[in-house]
Amino acid sequence: MVKDFTEEEKKGFYKAIYSRRDVRSHFISKSIEDDILSKILHAAHHAPSVGFSQPWNFILIKNIETKNKIKKSFEEEKKRSSQLIEDPKKSKYISFKLEGILESPVNICVTYDPTKFGPFVIGRSSIPEAGLYSVCCAIQNLWLSARTEGIGLGWVSILSNKILKETLELPEHVIPVGYLCLGYVNEFVDKPDLQTAGWLSRLDLKDVVYFEKWENKENENWKNIQELIKKNLNYA
Ligand SMILES: Cc1cc2nc3c(=O)[nH]c(=O)nc-3n(C[C@H](O)[C@H](O)[C@H](O)COP(=O)(O)O)c2cc1C
Repeated sequence: MVKDFTEEEKKGFYKAIYSRRDVRSHFISKSIEDDILSKILHAAHHAPSVGFSQPWNFILIKNIETKNKIKKSFEEEKKRSSQLIEDPKKSKYISFKLEGILESPVNICVTYDPTKFGPFVIGRSSIPEAGLYSVCCAIQNLWLSARTEGIGLGWVSILSNKILKETLELPEHVIPVGYLCLGYVNEFVDKPDLQTAGWLSRLDLKDVVYFEKWENKENENWKNIQELIKKNLNYA
């Protein structure tokens, strides 16, 4: 039987959660050791999945030609998406560094295969998206494990899935879910880059927690937790 976490272990867990960052601009050239990368991939593979379907695959990429193709797709998609907004937001968006494809030593494309152990997967017949959610759980494990190992990770979603599929030779039914850039960093900043840049801030927890029904923020039966939630505590 696995024992409960000690106080020290709990601290480590919350430290990983609170100090995880999406990293785009702090990568250093040091390569990731194979045993560390293996640990991170094992952590990802131990995520929960609907019906234990483990519908993920991890494509490890370091080939420069592949990276260049993905970077080109990023540039095109960033340009395209910038047309959706007006100045001053547009110029701000264009100025943001939103990927580290070439600077990071390892890129990983995490994919979703809906056919794995299918077509009947326990728990997926009513909510088909549960398969995709499972892949996101794997990505979060991967992200936190990387942080624990001192490795930064940046998720790039400003990409064409069509180009990704062609470049990585994915079968038609396999869906790319996350394109991740991993590498050691010179620092983990304490706030999200988009917050520092004045784009958006973290919402107060009290504004995203409802009691019993949608938008119900006050409830006599939840008084104590309501007070704690208002404090925006940091458990790291
Ligand atoms: C599904 C997903 C897609 C994302 N895509 C991008 C992206 O294309 N470029 C980028 O710079 N950051 C991307 N991010 C990172 C978010 O901007 C970042 O998580 C958020 O600003 C909060 O910052 P933090 O992760 O450092 O806490 C993505 C995050 C998620 C979860």
